[in-house]
Amino acid sequence: MKKLLLIFIAVLLVSVSLRGQVSIIPKPNKTEIGEGRFLLNKETTLFTNEQNSSNLTYLRDLLVGVTGFDFTVKKSLPSFNYISLTLVSPFSLPQEGYIMEITTKGIEIKASDRAGIFYGIQSLLQLLPPVVYSGRSTGHEVWSVPVLNIEDSPRFGYRGMMLDVSRTFFDAATVKKYIDWMAFHKINKFHWHLTDDNGWRVEVKKYPKLTELGAWRGDNEVLKPAFGSGSNRYGGFYTQKEIKEIVAYAAERHIEIIPEIDLPGHSKAVTASYPAVGCDGEDKSVSVQGEGQNVWCVGKESNFKMLENIIKEVAALFPSKYFHIGGDEVNYDAWDKCPHCQALMKEKGMVKHEELLNYFVRRMESILEKNGKHMAGWDEILDGGDLKPETRVYAWRSVAKGIESVSKGQPTIMMPGEFCYFDMKQSTIERGHNWAGIVSPEKTYSLDPTGTANLNEEQSKLIVGVQGALWTELLGRPVRFMEYQTYPRLAALSEVGWTQTENKEWEEFYKRLYSAHFERMYQMGIEFRLDPPKAVYNSGVIKVTAPYPWAVVRYTTDESEPQMFSPIYRGEIFTDKAHKFRFATFYKDEIKSVSVQPENSEYTYLKPVTRVETSMTENKKFPVKNVTDYNFATYFRTESKIKAGDHFTYIFEEPVKAKRITVETGIPNITFYGVTDGYVEFSYDGKEYTGKTWFVLNSAVLYPVKEVKSVRITTTAPNDGHILSLQDLKIE
Ligand code: ACM
Ligand code: ZN
Repeated sequence: MKKLLLIFIAVLLVSVSLRGQVSIIPKPNKTEIGEGRFLLNKETTLFTNEQNSSNLTYLRDLLVGVTGFDFTVKKSLPSFNYISLTLVSPFSLPQEGYIMEITTKGIEIKASDRAGIFYGIQSLLQLLPPVVYSGRSTGHEVWSVPVLNIEDSPRFGYRGMMLDVSRTFFDAATVKKYIDWMAFHKINKFHWHLTDDNGWRVEVKKYPKLTELGAWRGDNEVLKPAFGSGSNRYGGFYTQKEIKEIVAYAAERHIEIIPEIDLPGHSKAVTASYPAVGCDGEDKSVSVQGEGQNVWCVGKESNFKMLENIIKEVAALFPSKYFHIGGDEVNYDAWDKCPHCQALMKEKGMVKHEELLNYFVRRMESILEKNGKHMAGWDEILDGGDLKPETRVYAWRSVAKGIESVSKGQPTIMMPGEFCYFDMKQSTIERGHNWAGIVSPEKTYSLDPTGTANLNEEQSKLIVGVQGALWTELLGRPVRFMEYQTYPRLAALSEVGWTQTENKEWEEFYKRLYSAHFERMYQMGIEFRLDPPKAVYNSGVIKVTAPYPWAVVRYTTDESEPQMFSPIYRGEIFTDKAHKFRFATFYKDEIKSVSVQPENSEYTYLKPVTRVETSMTENKKFPVKNVTDYNFATYFRTESKIKAGDHFTYIFEEPVKAKRITVETGIPNITFYGVTDGYVEFSYDGKEYTGKTWFVLNSAVLYPVKEVKSVRITTTAPNDGHILSLQDLKIE
């Protein structure tokens, strides 16, 4: 009897502790948790009233694969032990909404459209053991879900993610995986940035050179090496067959793909393959990204014929009503100096070059309209004049641009860089751009697409939704950095797009993230980002705070990166060599944060009086003296691309006694614009050089044995950016 009572109490405790604990992301708008659980087993059956239901196939494939149960499909609704997917009409919730009722007898998902059923399935997957995402169970899982009622629908109809496949190319299989992960987060639009200066990635049968030439970078290619791809041939493209497959794959996951062909700027891949497309005239200027002659000439009428042909082929591959034509960051200098563009401006009575952009954009609207599409473009398309009322504007430069767009009556996607650009750093110590600021997951989560902008009701209605963007200049390495940059920021953004503001709260989201969603992402196979621990050194003691309650922190004592076998931090460490410690958060063995050195343990490198001799011309804003001040935050930039044989010599006023000199190049923390081809040497007398060491991944380490007088960098090929950046020497 006593034993029974104990069992009863244990069961009660377990059920009480499970109550109220569903951690779905994005958070459903209404959840009521009841008593008990529904257990799936080998007798559980499936039912749907959808015709040719891809939802049923999707769910069944996932469940059969991981549970080993049959999930027989029934022709009528069973009375118990079932999962039913039912389309109902009329229905109380808006489009994409769903109701999920779980009783001890079964699971019922109801919606008025197929997307709603799909989102019900996604919430259901998150109630199951996370291995459901891995396709491989241990055989010991209990496939049960809590009794509950969910009523849920999205805040915005557009919940998107953009991926740049031009700067870094991702093959079809990787894109499909990316789409799978988006679907798990109820993201419903994939904005596919298919072309840019550094690669054209979609097959166009009428213009084969776009991919024969324009999809490849390298020493002997029309596109020069970039972003560390080096002299090897780098690139790739999607055949039309692959595109159609990916579009169908996405559609089964209720994701619409919006293609982007970036025009009329960002078009080096086109002008390098079909030079007649570019402007004529003497123009040596470059775009923001440092590309010369990367703009379509608007004054050459033949270009519009070519654009019609391209759009016709590409538009046919995508069922989306929208087609994105870019329109961003046009280098107007090209047009200003081009006789054809100038003649056209004169003929049309245009005064500003923005008007020429508007002329181009309006013609693209017409071409797209002929192909049954509406135009979409970056917010620069607002600059030169009016647009068709249905043209959709993607506000990336600022929230203010989004406000401007809706004030002009355009349907608008809010995606300001400071919240939504996932190529930005997630903290000061991580890799990434920072021109739009630090975009931590919390920053992303804090966006309110209409509230942040204080829009009135009329304007709010024009905010169609929200989108993240992953530009890929920095994504070439490490291999899975794309996953690190996307998650969990996209999980945070999914809640911005889906969950009503009153149901959103960062602390509570973060708790759901680490207590449940990390494991799901792990099982999905995502190499997601973790917060690093906080380590502080004081009076001979290092104290570490983990980023969440049960995080595992590992450390090293020799400045190396913590690895899966490094010891686990278990309490204060007493040491007089705190600067040699590195700490990192680990999730399982494979996933880890960036490592940190204890605060207050800043190692002081030597700071000898130093001057520089160089063949490189300095950019006045980033002068040579920045690398002799031993402030590691400031750096040197050249004015232009460097040549083979360029050199840069650090000369010490007094010879320096150093055991080790670390030479890092590129912009600090961005590892961008560094020495890709070259070596560094040192000299004991300032004349004879020795210790030649080649740069690997932009850095090199020297080990002199006597006092050093100077250190000289020599480049052996042009670097792969339009400028070079160098840093202070780290002398120990
Ligand atoms: C952009 O980031 N140039 C749209
Ligand atoms: Zn021109």
